[in-house]
Amino acid sequence: MERYGTIVGLDKPVSRMIFGCAIKPMNQGVRVDKLLDRALELGINAFDTARVYGESEASLGGWVRERGNRDKVVLLSKGGHPVIEFSEKGPEVKKRRITRKDIRDDLETTLLKLGVDELDIYLLHRDDPSVPVGEIAEWMDELVKEGKVRTIGGSNWTYQRIAQQRAYAAAHNLTPFTVSSPHYSLAELGCDMYGDGCVTLTGEKNDEARKWYRENPVAIISYASLSNGFFGGKVHGNDYENRAQLLDPLSLPAFGSRENFARLQRAEQLAKEKGCTTAQLALAWCFADGMNLFAAAGSTHMERVEENLGALDIPLSKEEADWLCNG
Ligand SMILES: NC(=O)c1ccc[n+]([C@@H]2O[C@H](COP(=O)([O-])OP(=O)(O)OC[C@H]3O[C@@H](n4cnc5c(N)ncnc54)[C@H](OP(=O)(O)O)[C@@H]3O)[C@@H](O)[C@H]2O)c1
Repeated sequence: MERYGTIVGLDKPVSRMIFGCAIKPMNQGVRVDKLLDRALELGINAFDTARVYGESEASLGGWVRERGNRDKVVLLSKGGHPVIEFSEKGPEVKKRRITRKDIRDDLETTLLKLGVDELDIYLLHRDDPSVPVGEIAEWMDELVKEGKVRTIGGSNWTYQRIAQQRAYAAAHNLTPFTVSSPHYSLAELGCDMYGDGCVTLTGEKNDEARKWYRENPVAIISYASLSNGFFGGKVHGNDYENRAQLLDPLSLPAFGSRENFARLQRAEQLAKEKGCTTAQLALAWCFADGMNLFAAAGSTHMERVEENLGALDIPLSKEEADWLCNG
């Protein structure tokens, strides 16, 4: 797999592996300059953050300012996230924020926190299907025309709503969405992990969605590409019976199905045969479906950032990719 790809609307190449900035120290506003230096040195030039990741944007922006490397990096952030309350019953949406004002206010704060004039990629963190897609297209286009963002898109948007945005944009001479950021990993998502309609591309039920992405110039930035570390060694394929003790409360309903443990077991077996790690194999699987995909993975460890990049060197045939899913 080539190390860089292109996204319509961006003139910089984008690294296929994206550094996920929703990591604890960054969320707490702690600078991780050496980790980010290492990522960039390895060729990872794209960084995924969001308005709701605590002080992650400030941590990333501090590094960009300190190193003076704005022209070398691709900065992605997300706004318009709803207000969600988490309790034992799960996530509950208190307020949707897909409004012109909220989207704008979030972007202004993001630019301030990052210390830049323009974002490379601005995504709406959720959709609100009750808002006509044409209105959203108009609001987002204004931000592009004002030079505040270069490319736009949706995270956790269905492909149908993205297609509607693109059709409206084409008919009204506006900027089309060219980026989509759903969940996608070898493990199927078993619940609405973060609330208010997390969208996944994994699984047979999403065959049509993946076909649409293969046929349309909309890049995928997959999140939780390692299924929240499920493929990173915190559990093993034969741990299904002990899953409640081993998986954190977020990962258990999201990824702890019997079927996912079977996939993990097959991934461990094939990784051994190929001489790579299970994490690398799980990431290689994300690239095997022919979409224009960029994988966001988060780690606080330099050696893991490097390990994950090695996924691009693991050849995986369609038969092997299918076998990992279905046995
Ligand atoms: N758009 C959205 O709604 C959305 C939602 C979730 C996430 N995201 C983005 O996607 C990024 C990645 O998602 P994520 O962090 O949720 O999930 P992830 O990348 O699937 O998993 C991260 C976990 O895997 C561990 N890990 C990473 N590489 C590893 C390796 N080689 N071996 C073993 N363990 C490894 C990390 O632990 P260590 O730090 O200890 O290595 C961390 O616990 C986020 O940072 C964020 O930018 C977007």
